[in-house]
Amino acid sequence: MQSKQQFLSQKDLLGIRQLTPDELWLILERAESMKSIVTGQREKSDLLKGKSAVTLFYENSTRTRMAFTMAGTYLGANVADLGVANSSVKKGESLVDTGITLDRMGIDYMIMRHNQSGAAHLLAKNVGASVINAGDGANEHPTQALLDFYTIYEKKGGFKNLKVTIIGDIAHSRVARSNVFGLTKLGTKVTLAGPGTLTAKSMECLGCKVETDLKKAVQDADIVMALRIQMERQKGGLFPNLREYSQIYGIDEALFSYAKPDALLMHPAPVNRGVELMPELMDSSVSVIDQQVTNGVAVRMAILALLNERRAN
Ligand code: CP
Repeated sequence: MQSKQQFLSQKDLLGIRQLTPDELWLILERAESMKSIVTGQREKSDLLKGKSAVTLFYENSTRTRMAFTMAGTYLGANVADLGVANSSVKKGESLVDTGITLDRMGIDYMIMRHNQSGAAHLLAKNVGASVINAGDGANEHPTQALLDFYTIYEKKGGFKNLKVTIIGDIAHSRVARSNVFGLTKLGTKVTLAGPGTLTAKSMECLGCKVETDLKKAVQDADIVMALRIQMERQKGGLFPNLREYSQIYGIDEALFSYAKPDALLMHPAPVNRGVELMPELMDSSVSVIDQQVTNGVAVRMAILALLNERRAN
């Protein structure tokens, strides 16, 4: 690998947009060293003994919340969940007041998912703890993108000259945005594809290509990444219906055959089986969706460790 940097430059991890290529490599290198703990080949660590982390999820999650919980646990930290649905948030307490309250308890990390873009930035400005953005509205999902980068690195050995095609509900996807920010910094060619109403040509200003012809989009791709249709964020008739969507944009073996012979299939999950991905493809050997989950713990361990080092220096 190739990081020239020893420390992250910020106390928080708010987005891929803010990270330099060296910082991306620093996180990937550390994730590589953490992976053997996740797979049980190495003893769990006490690197974060005495540190405390809290997860604050204003939106639902399985993977991200549990991966952070396991990452902290594997490194010896105390990890607690605020349980937003049963907290004083429900009595109207503001995000900033909630954050300040937790800060006064001496918490070192606040790992937050929120439906408002920029919520993690607001929290970070108001607390001394390291804030990690676990997804904010349609803005960014940096730790998902980092686990995607690590999976690509692990399977393909690098990023330069690879073609990654991302298909689906691009307009509402914080995963797509974070992937575009990072993959373009790492030298990967990114193509976005999906229904015109969910894939604006204007996204090309982010350094990627927007394609409405799915076969052209998938042609010679090294990685095909499907995105979840986010029914909870659809409004204003941007979207026909699930059956129509799956018939036109659902990725099946026939479409996937336009990619390179050694191409891989990724998805951040959860998957709407039979909608954005056909089950026979999802369950085939081209899929690395399960490996993405495992790598998600290693990447989050890397982030917790690096932010701890940043705070100590
Ligand atoms: N990929 C992802 O963010 O999954 P969760 O919503 O389950 O955390």
